[in-house]
Amino acid sequence: MSATRFSESVTGGIRDGVLVVTIDNPPVNAISAHVRQGLVKALDHAAALAMVVGVVITGAGRTFVGGADIKEFGKPPVEPALPEVIERIESNSKPVVAAINGAALGGGCEIALACHGRISGEKASFGMPEVKLGIVPGAGGTQRLPRLIGTIAAIDLIGSGRAVKATEARSLGLVDGVAKDHLDAALSLVHDLAGEPLRRTGMLEVPAVEPVAVEAAAKKVLSKARGQAAPAEAVRLVKAAANVDLKQGLADERATFLRLRDSEEAAALRHVFFAERQAGRVDKLEGIAPRKIETVGIVGTGLMGAGIAVAALTAGYRVTGIEQTEAAAANGHGRIAGILDKSVQSGRLAATVRDECLARLVVTANAGELAAANLVIEAVFDDLTVKTELLQRLDGIVRPDAILATNTSYLNPDEIAAATAHPERVVGLHFFSPANIMRLVEVVDCKATAPDVLASAIAFAKRLGKLPVVCGVTEGFIGNRIFSAYRREAEFMVEDGAAPHEIDAALEAYGFPMGIFTVYDMAGLEIAWARRKRQATTRDPKARYVEIADRLCEAGRFGRKTGRGWYDYSSGERAVDPEVTALIEAARAAKSIVPRDFTSDEIAARLLKAMAEEGAALLAEGIAARSSDIDLVMINGYGFPAHKGGPVFAAETHKEATS
Ligand code: 3HC
Repeated sequence: MSATRFSESVTGGIRDGVLVVTIDNPPVNAISAHVRQGLVKALDHAAALAMVVGVVITGAGRTFVGGADIKEFGKPPVEPALPEVIERIESNSKPVVAAINGAALGGGCEIALACHGRISGEKASFGMPEVKLGIVPGAGGTQRLPRLIGTIAAIDLIGSGRAVKATEARSLGLVDGVAKDHLDAALSLVHDLAGEPLRRTGMLEVPAVEPVAVEAAAKKVLSKARGQAAPAEAVRLVKAAANVDLKQGLADERATFLRLRDSEEAAALRHVFFAERQAGRVDKLEGIAPRKIETVGIVGTGLMGAGIAVAALTAGYRVTGIEQTEAAAANGHGRIAGILDKSVQSGRLAATVRDECLARLVVTANAGELAAANLVIEAVFDDLTVKTELLQRLDGIVRPDAILATNTSYLNPDEIAAATAHPERVVGLHFFSPANIMRLVEVVDCKATAPDVLASAIAFAKRLGKLPVVCGVTEGFIGNRIFSAYRREAEFMVEDGAAPHEIDAALEAYGFPMGIFTVYDMAGLEIAWARRKRQATTRDPKARYVEIADRLCEAGRFGRKTGRGWYDYSSGERAVDPEVTALIEAARAAKSIVPRDFTSDEIAARLLKAMAEEGAALLAEGIAARSSDIDLVMINGYGFPAHKGGPVFAAETHKEATS
């Protein structure tokens, strides 16, 4: 099969009378201008050759097509636009079949939809993730997908942005078949279709469905999309597909796509997209190979340790959990098995995978079992003496090339490392609870951490499917330090006149799932209180200090678990408590503060500024390598709304908008 080059990223060769067109635009075959141009030329070429009965479109490498080229967004448009290419595919007189070798996302899925047949490889996946970028599909996805798989399934996929694997795509009717040799199957489908009337997706009727079922599907996806414009627009467009003709539906979709593409929400989500791909990249680690990790030791199988164990097991590692007694080990094993069982019940994990995980798990009181581990993570009580003694003991047990990771939240990992015989093999891995669910891991590059140890910790976190953000040593690392600044500012505002529920309402309106005082109550007030008491002697006496949280703790109000904290939960719901209001008023009176009103916008702006300023300090101190890492930490660990781009991005945008 001799190849014809249609553009720098599109080639074609004739096989069995079919033009096989390959998109080869690494790394993900995004539909850049030269891909669009090449596709049109390839279709023209096929039309001009009488010996060609049809066309197969496929992708080189692991991806079919990763969607529109996001890097082109915001740049001057280059012809042809994707909808024109797609229209050209659908209206082609000779059959066009997609041989989908890997991920077909966004515009990639839209190309597949416009083809007259779709054959999926076994490793392919399908999705319309546009809403995750703050946009809607812009090349017919909202109009063609419901025609092919029905309104309800289309609302689910387009409104949520979730991807489906080949088998689910087949059962939805998104593809005509799944084949090990998808290319051969696609070629044979072209021959079957040649000379027959072609099934053009855009010409199909949207299958009729009960309006209540449509509303229920819409409600389900939109309940997870608080404060965002794109999912609601996507759902609206999908629903409209049943009521308007294709041309009108496509025009509405394109106009909505272009409007949203230029929105602040889309800019913020694009920032997050690229930030995630940057995270975990460290210049000084260029060319450094990570160590091989097969067995992970976890000391302490409480809530955090068990969550880490589940994350490691489901990523394919062997796990050795260590407890102080055999009874505690049995409990730890039960906790880990319980989390795995729950995942099976909720459909997130196959029962067979759970069984494989359990076969790779040992929990024991015999610390000597750690001799085989390549990485040992300590998840014991957050106390310096407990942790240093443990790591010293591990020195005598683990293999010489083992990595020791501390999962401390607030202690200084340099001090923990310094107590060991080999501080160069110590690194921080700060997981967030529940560790099997939360994506964020702060990877702490300690003073003595060896480069390959750091590289190994990052690679390990990535293999767990986590988002590793590298940071230096400071109290609370990136997240808890910013969180402290945020909490401090919120407490200043309470003292100055804002009620906790007003602050929470402002944050929830901004897009946080929960306001800070509600979070505080959920987490419990006593740990921070104990820390404040420890720091009382070292605190700058001239710095402003708000005592209200101390008064709440003195009154036994430790948050939700005690039924009372910043709020009262005795009715089962969060309720404003006059006792707390009185306590706040007394604190203001003691400092002669005359309370003033705060608007919701002022509250959000002040909190944003406090977070961004602390972020700037972290950058200046070299604790964080880039501001986008700070944004990711706050989005993935502390509920900052992704569609605002994170505190540093949002503060910059806010500054530009108000200057
Ligand atoms: N455009 C431009 N660059 C892209 C891209 C895209 N659509 N998708 C990925 N990239 C880049 C990444 O930025 C990264 O670049 P870098 O190496 O310089 O940092 C590189 O490709 C590799 O990306 P990943 O690290 O994410 O690679 P993976 O192999 O882990 O994942 C993927 C591959 C599943 C395709 C993943 O990249 C992905 O989900 N991409 C985005 C898909 C998407 O959102 N598509 C919709 C685009 S909008 C659209 O199509 C609109 C249409 O309706 C008109």
